Amino acid sequence: MRLDILGNLRRTHYCGTLRSEHVGQDVVLCGWVHRRRDHGGVIFIDLRDRTGLAQVVFRPDTTPEAHERAEQVRSEYVLAVRGRVESRGPDATNPNLPTGEVEVVAAELRILNTATTPPFPIEDEVEIDESVRLRNRIHDLRRPVMQNRLELRHRLFQSVRGALTDQGLLEIETPMLARATPEGARDFLVPCRLQPGTFYALPQSPQILKQLLMVAGFEGYFQLARCFRDEDLRADRQPEFTQIDLELAFVGVDGVLAVLEETTVRAFRDVIGVELPRPFPRLGFHDIMARYGTDKPDTRIQLELVDLTDVFAKSGYGVFARAVDAGGVIRALPVPQAQAISRSELDRLVEESRTWGAQGLGWVRWTEDGKWQSPMAKYLSDTEREKIVERTSAGPGHLVFFVADRENVACEVLSKLRIHLGERLGCMDGREWDPFFVLDFPLFELDERGATVPMHMPFVAPAEEDLDLLDTEPLRVRSTHYDLVLNGVELGSGSLRNHRSDVQMRIFSALGYSEEEARRRFGFMLDALATGAPPHGGFAFGFDRMTLLMTGGQSLRDVLAFPKTQRGQDVFLQAPSSVDTEQLNELGLRLRREPGGGGE
Ligand code: AMO
Repeated sequence: MRLDILGNLRRTHYCGTLRSEHVGQDVVLCGWVHRRRDHGGVIFIDLRDRTGLAQVVFRPDTTPEAHERAEQVRSEYVLAVRGRVESRGPDATNPNLPTGEVEVVAAELRILNTATTPPFPIEDEVEIDESVRLRNRIHDLRRPVMQNRLELRHRLFQSVRGALTDQGLLEIETPMLARATPEGARDFLVPCRLQPGTFYALPQSPQILKQLLMVAGFEGYFQLARCFRDEDLRADRQPEFTQIDLELAFVGVDGVLAVLEETTVRAFRDVIGVELPRPFPRLGFHDIMARYGTDKPDTRIQLELVDLTDVFAKSGYGVFARAVDAGGVIRALPVPQAQAISRSELDRLVEESRTWGAQGLGWVRWTEDGKWQSPMAKYLSDTEREKIVERTSAGPGHLVFFVADRENVACEVLSKLRIHLGERLGCMDGREWDPFFVLDFPLFELDERGATVPMHMPFVAPAEEDLDLLDTEPLRVRSTHYDLVLNGVELGSGSLRNHRSDVQMRIFSALGYSEEEARRRFGFMLDALATGAPPHGGFAFGFDRMTLLMTGGQSLRDVLAFPKTQRGQDVFLQAPSSVDTEQLNELGLRLRREPGGGGE
């Protein structure tokens, strides 16, 4: 009895691993037909598995039966082939293929399955729209580049598990059916059939649960945690993503950062053979905001912002003076050796800066003979001109850009312009990898309505020496929050947490919660802290972002097997989808709107 279709054809080798040393061996290969060529009777099939391609030859004279079957196969048919490895000889060697020196002369062929015609070639360089790739995800995933990315992702999982285990952390799972956590995005809700009218929230992160694990005495936890956030999507965001989530007890900031550095260095070494420079520098939040206009700068770009607010506070140039009067700032971005930027390119940059939120983008160019060229030059006094030159160290061939606006707008616009021009003009310092920690974030900030809100989340511990300011000047309190930034990407963030319930309560009151409200929303947390919580702190790496940095893809969709589109859809599975009324009834739900819009 043959229990399965493979019968005696058990794979002995992977296609991509065959080399001259295998010449003379009988092998069995399994895989997909990548290409079939008929050369006047002799048939060549490039057979593909996840390791690569091998050429298989079918000769009508020696193995007529296998040859006859080979005539029927088409692209993406699934085959098992038995044959002997032979040398192709110097003339027939294919130097572009790792297996190019050998071929397998087939003795037996079994067609394990037929296949529909693929929508595009299964190759790395396919010029097709991403939507077509997503709709045909199976074929897309068969391309070597996608196979390699997901294999790298697997190796990253293993490296991280090893590194954190070696550092004494335990892998512990936390529930997906949970309740809302304060990460600041919208929750995905799951209706509970057994308690009609109630909902679980899918975790935005295991934040509360990992803190509870510390209180419960596990001392070191990690999890490759799935997180769910219903937020507007961008290239670096998915509604469902993975974190390397971790938490440690009895640690200070240094203790956590040491674990993060070790884990990151090991991951880059294990997975892509890169030795990251250690120790990772530590930069202060206010310093990097002033120099780069963002808390996740790519510091390899050698351009820095300059503040000129004081220079223009009483300026005759109305646009600038009014911005300062309204509490805004004047920030500049000096760009040395900017001769390559033409006048029409400058106009395009001014236009583009509007899409980044700018109301205007001023500029001054110094010609090679030291003259000013600028639409705004005539409005500036001699002193202002002198100050600009002094502060920006501008000289012949330089361009300086100006934004007069609210501080966050000026920072946003100039930090984007900095990246754009840095890449355009090649102002990179030559380092390939640039990891650093950002520290000294404020604990609170003001939102658009002027209310005090946590800069990150309400469980972040204040810096010990600023505890006294909590009740009097909360906005001056520094937090223990830290970010890890790599090549301009926020790779992860974390902090020490409030382990004392009285400090946690003071933070809730600085946020404007009454004692009753704080107890209603976070009573379980306050109670847990009161049971004897050790000092603790942790971090979460964005695992998908880390994979993306290592593989060099364009968006997180390139490192996930089944990602969602910008509209939150899985176009292959056609999710989300509507459900039967019966199912809704069971859950005690009634739709107020027809699926996809309309209705009330
Ligand atoms: P935070 O919200 O900063 O912190 O998330 C940590 C890291 O997760 C990644 N990330 C995302 N990746 C893909 N798609 C998304 N939508 C997305 N959102 C976040 C980022 C980010 O730096 N509980 C805290 C961590 C802690 O304090 O321990 C938290 O979740 O790389």
